[in-house]
Amino acid sequence: MIPPSHREAAVFGPAAITAVIVGQGYVGLPLAQAAVTAGIRIIGLETRADIVERLNAGGSHVDDVADTEVAAMVAAGYTATTDASVVAEADVVVICVPTPLSGLREPDLSAIRGATASIAPHLKPGALVVLESTTYPGTTEEVVRPILESAGHVVGRDVLLAYSPERIDPGNTVYTIASTPKIVGGVDERSTAATVEFYSHFVDRVVTARGTREAETAKLLENTYRHINIALVNEMARFCHELGIDVWDVIAAAETKPFGFQAFRPGPGVGGHCIPIDPNYLSYEVRRRLGEPFRFVELAEEINRGMPAYVVERIRRGLAARGRDLTAATVLLLGVTYKPDISDQRESPAIEVAGLLKAAGAVVTFHDPWVSTWHLDGQPIERVGDLNAAVTEADASVLLQAHREYDVDALAHRAAYLFDTRGVSTTGDAERL
Ligand SMILES: NC(=O)c1ccc[n+]([C@@H]2O[C@H](COP(=O)([O-])OP(=O)(O)OC[C@H]3O[C@@H](n4cnc5c(N)ncnc54)[C@H](O)[C@@H]3O)[C@@H](O)[C@H]2O)c1
Repeated sequence: MIPPSHREAAVFGPAAITAVIVGQGYVGLPLAQAAVTAGIRIIGLETRADIVERLNAGGSHVDDVADTEVAAMVAAGYTATTDASVVAEADVVVICVPTPLSGLREPDLSAIRGATASIAPHLKPGALVVLESTTYPGTTEEVVRPILESAGHVVGRDVLLAYSPERIDPGNTVYTIASTPKIVGGVDERSTAATVEFYSHFVDRVVTARGTREAETAKLLENTYRHINIALVNEMARFCHELGIDVWDVIAAAETKPFGFQAFRPGPGVGGHCIPIDPNYLSYEVRRRLGEPFRFVELAEEINRGMPAYVVERIRRGLAARGRDLTAATVLLLGVTYKPDISDQRESPAIEVAGLLKAAGAVVTFHDPWVSTWHLDGQPIERVGDLNAAVTEADASVLLQAHREYDVDALAHRAAYLFDTRGVSTTGDAERL
């Protein structure tokens, strides 16, 4: 049976639904935007008062959502708040809070626990709670459910509960929330049905998994697959260099195969909120439950985490071949974000590259069209103003992120030495990873 709030929504359409989205970050805000666009009434619940203030004033703090788009959301009735009592109005509550690693590189679910505890006392009968944060299998049933139940709700009777992983890809303009299929797994059939119905208002294709654990694990499989394949090409890049083989040419040739192969590219390390973090959630759970290592994940982690040191070693060798010593060199880092054409610096390998270069004695500067200030261990790194002049003056320029603003071939032509960790240069003036 569909609970009253969802039956009403089915009859009257999205305008009859009120949803609270908990966490208005890289995932929660674009989700709010998609739902508002579909006509759903959205309230953004956020612990950071500065973000709430900015959103309500029509300003964005997320690359993928422009100020004008937030202003349009506000005009359409969207509001943000730090007050969890708004949950009392919600037919649906979607949790999109961070799931980082602790200092010991273990899952840190404190934000999921905190968010669930904050909404639980206010949930109305029939409300649907959906967890979107990336997490290890069992979280919905074993962490979220008990918190809801300790507030007096019987899950499956008073409130519904499901897991639906976010697949947002910051900066991707081809695959949007609407055009990316959404996986849903509920704790029971009613929860799954209500969740499918909710997302169907603004996602073209909603796919049901057998349950919450399958939906949780599907997300981890997707990111672990990327993590492992990136590690594979990173290791190949190292071997190919030693063997005198151009790994970029190898990949370009291999990717002409129309089936059975997907191209991944080497780089200075993995960054962002997902790839360096999520596979650890899976290996943690395998080790905790089964007492066994998830060997693929652990090997991939070792290889990918070793890339910044390998990049620095290649810079050292490249300088030495030109008669320069890294310990007295000026090194200009080009692009310090974890992906091209966005400003997100979370877990960017550029930080480790910069730290290792400084530890070796080099003078490090940076340029990034998306980043105005950049810090290493709390100390600001000098941002060069005139890119062309800085590339001409530096002993080594290192392309860490291939933002579209960079004409890498032209920069390589000016540079004493340009090391291209992204394999985008084409003229032979640069040295590629
Ligand atoms: N960023 C991505 O590309 C991406 C993609 C897929 C999945 N995910 C997953 O989605 C989840 C959220 O990631 P994100 O990138 O949006 O993080 P984020 O840091 O950009 O945003 C999370 C927001 O939640 C807020 N918050 C924290 N605790 C809260 C609470 N108790 N109540 C209300 N608000 C709270 C924070 O202040 C922050 O603004 C994570 O599990 C992440 O792994 C992220």
